[in-house]
Amino acid sequence: MANRRIDRSSSNLARRRKPWAPDEVEVKPRPVTDPQIFSQSVISPLRYPGAKRQLVPIIEQIVKGNVPRPRLFVEPFCGGASTTLRLVGTGVIEHAVLADVDELVNSFWYVAAFDTNWLIDRMMEIEVTVAKWEWFRLYHPRNRRDKALKCLFLNRTTFSGILHGRAGPIGGKNQSESTKYKIDCRFNKGGLAARLRAVGELADSGRILDVWNTDWRTTLARLKAQYSKTLTASEILVYLDPPYIDKAEFLYPWAFGDDEHRSLASTLTAAHDYNWILSYDDNPLARELYPPAHEGRHVLHAKHRYSAASLKASPDGKRQRPQREELLITNFTDLPDSDAYHALGQSTCSACQIHASTTGSERAGPRS
Ligand SMILES: C[S@@+](CC[C@H](N)C(=O)[O-])C[C@H]1O[C@@H](n2cnc3c(N)ncnc32)[C@H](O)[C@@H]1O
Repeated sequence: MANRRIDRSSSNLARRRKPWAPDEVEVKPRPVTDPQIFSQSVISPLRYPGAKRQLVPIIEQIVKGNVPRPRLFVEPFCGGASTTLRLVGTGVIEHAVLADVDELVNSFWYVAAFDTNWLIDRMMEIEVTVAKWEWFRLYHPRNRRDKALKCLFLNRTTFSGILHGRAGPIGGKNQSESTKYKIDCRFNKGGLAARLRAVGELADSGRILDVWNTDWRTTLARLKAQYSKTLTASEILVYLDPPYIDKAEFLYPWAFGDDEHRSLASTLTAAHDYNWILSYDDNPLARELYPPAHEGRHVLHAKHRYSAASLKASPDGKRQRPQREELLITNFTDLPDSDAYHALGQSTCSACQIHASTTGSERAGPRS
C-alpha cells in the first residue's frame, strides 16, 4: 500500500470544498478535535424516520470483533447517517462514503460535509415559522445548497422529520396555545450548528471521503469500481438500512416494494467484494429472504426501542416508544458473543429452536 504523506495536521485547514479522491482512502485521517462528541447518543443534524441509533453499538461490537478492521464504511441508504458519524467520529473505522437516492438527503450531506459554513450561516438566519414551512414545502430548489437547506429545515420542523408526503409541521398549522411542542422545538440553532461543524470536521479530516447521490445499485457498483483495487474485501464494510418493508410508502416518495427487497437480497448473496451488515425490521419477508446459515452468513435478532414515529399510548395515557425487534444480517464470519443479540438458527433461545425444529424454518418465528 502506498505510503504517501499528506499534511492534514493544520487546525487552520480551510473548509474542504470537495470530496476526497478515492485513493485518499489509503491515507490515515488526522484526529478530530473532540472525539467525545461522536460518542453522544444524538449526533446527526437530521432526525430520521426509521433511524436505528440503538443498533449502532451492536454494529460497533461486530466491527471491533473482526480482524483486520474494515477501513472504509459505506452507507448506501444513509438517511440520518448516525451509524457512519459514530463509527468514523470515534475512530472505529477510518473512512466513510455516504449515499442516498433522495436528492434532498444526499444534497444535505454533501453540503454539510463540504460546504459547512454556508449551511450553518443560512440555518442561523432562517426564521422558523409556519409561513416559512409552507414556503419550503412548495419550493423546488434547483441547486445542491438550496436542496440541503430545504432538507434541514423541513426535517427539523415537520412531524417525525418526514420530508415528503402529507406530514404537517410540528405543533400543527395553527400552533394553538394548547400545543406543547411548537414548530421550532427541534430547531435549536446552537446545537445544530455544533453538529454541522462536527460533520464538516469529519470531511476536513479525511474521514467522510465523499457523498454520492446514487441509488443502492449504483452505490454498490461505484464502490467496486472506485475502491476494490485499493482495498481488500475485508477492508470494506457496507452497512445497509433499507426502507421499512411495511411502511415505506408513507415515508418516501418512491416505491421500495417486495421486488426491490428481493433484488437487494440477491445482490448481497452474490457480493464478494466487501463485507456487509444489513438491518431490517423483523418481518416475514426479511426472514424469507435471509435464511440463517446460508453461505456462511449470520442472521442476528436484536431488540431496541425505536426513535421513529411509532409512539404509542400506554394504559396510563403516556406516550412511549414501543420496543421493536430487528434483524441484523451479515456475511462477517466472526461474531463476538453479546447479550445484545442472538443468532437465529444457532440460538440458545428455546422458543426459536422449538420453532425451527417444528417448521424447518425460522420464517416468522416467535420473538424471543
Ligand atoms: C430506513 S432509512 C435509513 C435510515 C438511516 N439508517 C438512519 O439511521 O437515519 C432509508 C433511507 O433509504 C433511502 N432510500 C430509499 N430508497 C432508496 C434507494 N433505492 N437507493 C438508495 N437509498 C434509498 C431513503 O431516502 C432513506 O433515507
